Amino acid sequence: MKTLVDFRRSKEAGEKIVMVTAYDYPSARLAEEAGVDMILVGDSLGMVVLGYDSTVPVTMADMIHHTRAARRGAKDTFVVSDMPFMTYQISPAQALENAARLVQEGGCEAVKLEGGAEIAEQVRSLVRAGIPVCGHVGLTPQSVTALSGYKVQARTAEAARKLLDDTLALEEAGAFMIVLECIPVQVADLVTRRLAIPTIGIGAGAACDGQVLVFHDALGLFERFVPKFVRQFETLGVKAKAGLAQYAQEVRDGSFPAPEHSFSMRDEELRRIYGHSAE
Ligand code: KIV
Repeated sequence: MKTLVDFRRSKEAGEKIVMVTAYDYPSARLAEEAGVDMILVGDSLGMVVLGYDSTVPVTMADMIHHTRAARRGAKDTFVVSDMPFMTYQISPAQALENAARLVQEGGCEAVKLEGGAEIAEQVRSLVRAGIPVCGHVGLTPQSVTALSGYKVQARTAEAARKLLDDTLALEEAGAFMIVLECIPVQVADLVTRRLAIPTIGIGAGAACDGQVLVFHDALGLFERFVPKFVRQFETLGVKAKAGLAQYAQEVRDGSFPAPEHSFSMRDEELRRIYGHSAE
């Protein structure tokens, strides 16, 4: 399993860090077998797995449940788990209590919190307690209402300056990495060059030290909405639908199950039921 030192070395060596979300045993297993560097059990699971309209309703119980499942699927990959909305904003003590649950009960290596300088104290208290923290700035989906929708952030000089200051505050508080979501490539480039810790982009261009994508987006499993920054590396949703339609047809026309999918018993046993051969 890669460590915090490895991620810092990757940045220094200019080797890109690959992160993908996974929320359960099979997806985490696939991610590990594909050789990704890190798995994020993102609260995006609220939308792509649980069917909510945003990440806001996701709870600690949801995150612990899914983190445990992903952990079982990826025993040798560094797992970061999202802290849900309002489980860390209230105070450093609240953040510490909930982060400890994600680590102890969920089994992740690190936690991710959305926000900038305003949550630096929370980050500091987790890092002091030995819990590695990943920051997340730019488009922060837990604040979708306050941001008036899923929009590109930091498009003005003032907003870009604030975003840079936020990332510097997170780094100073001890974050080991920061996710930059939906910001102009120039801003991501500036932040990436100014920080000693790695940046992981999603909708933030190629200058970041690594990239993260949502599992269901990358594989074409979430068709409700495909953001501009997503490349679908597979179209599993289309394939899954075709496969299930074929299954339904074969059940209905009697061609499934075939003899090779069925079990039988010896004639003598059958005779003990019917008193004669079944033939
Ligand atoms: O929840 C999530 O999947 C995330 C990524 C989009 C970075 O936070």
